[in-house]
Amino acid sequence: MRIFSGIQPTGSLHIGNYFGAIKQWVDLQDKNDCLFCIVDLHAITSPYEIKEFESKVLEKAIVYLSAGINPEKAIMFVQSKVKEHTELCWLLNSITPLGELQRMTQYKEKSLKQKKKECAGLLNYPILMAADILLYNTDIVPVGEDQKQHVELARDIAKRFNHLFGETFTLPQAQLPKQGARIMSISNPKEKMSKSGAPENYISLFDSPKDIRKKIKSAVTDTEKTIKYNKTKKPGISNLLTIYSLLSDKKIRDIEDEMKDKSYKEFKESLAELIVLKLEPFRKKREELLSREVYVREILKKGEEKASVIAQSKINEVKNKMGLYS
Ligand code: TYM
Repeated sequence: MRIFSGIQPTGSLHIGNYFGAIKQWVDLQDKNDCLFCIVDLHAITSPYEIKEFESKVLEKAIVYLSAGINPEKAIMFVQSKVKEHTELCWLLNSITPLGELQRMTQYKEKSLKQKKKECAGLLNYPILMAADILLYNTDIVPVGEDQKQHVELARDIAKRFNHLFGETFTLPQAQLPKQGARIMSISNPKEKMSKSGAPENYISLFDSPKDIRKKIKSAVTDTEKTIKYNKTKKPGISNLLTIYSLLSDKKIRDIEDEMKDKSYKEFKESLAELIVLKLEPFRKKREELLSREVYVREILKKGEEKASVIAQSKINEVKNKMGLYS
């Protein structure tokens, strides 16, 4: 199976990104043909720091490697280095109805947040994502829940193209993890954990033990005392139980049993220690890689070369099918 997925380089990657996306990637890379991209062209549709941007891209490559992506098995590359992504994006622009873009949840949310800075790129964002996916004849797109709608749109675009110009694209399918597809903010459990939000809302993969303990201690819960999973009535505790379960590989019911005589404070202390322990290998690997920029850049360069071969052949096929001058 061909797998494609990507993450934007801005902001700190958090445990939501890990459980929603990267953990699936690590599991999929052994038996599939995988491409994992750093989608810098998506990130520029929101305000960003120009000076920091390149280092953010490199940092994400380090995250991928620290989290267990093996560059011998999977292709890792930077989106803007393979120009066929933008080329295909333009071609797909011509067959995507405006209404479909305007109804995208993420567009509606982001355009509200960026009212004064809204650009056409924010609306067209899902077409670039469709181009990322379709360029590689992708079968499976492992993502968190918030990206499911975009993958479905990519599938619709592929269907429309195949119908208009003949069989060209594989129809992609989103793959969400059974648990952890939507990790909530720990400071406001009614909202999704987000890397563009305040640092108190997320646990970054590289947070120090001190920060992890502090953030979990002040995680928002409720006024009751029972450690019970109930997503609607107790969203804070339910989110923390989900994180505990994902990190410990224990069932939520077993954790509830284990914690039944414990206070929220004690539960949070155990959770903080578990997070500190489980994130330690990420922190160590990152420290090692930070001093090996040349090595990381080499991996991205090799990835770019391999991705370009697939992308060039696909874009030629697409242009032929569309009847463009050859
Ligand atoms: P991005 O960078 O916002 O998020 C990267 C991945 O992390 C998942 N995710 C979460 N999963 C669980 N809980 C959360 N709180 C949480 N927050 C984020 C996202 O679902 C995603 O899988 N548009 C995409 C990037 C993209 C892409 C692609 C993905 C561009 N082209 C092609 C797949 C295929 C995005 O902004 O993800």
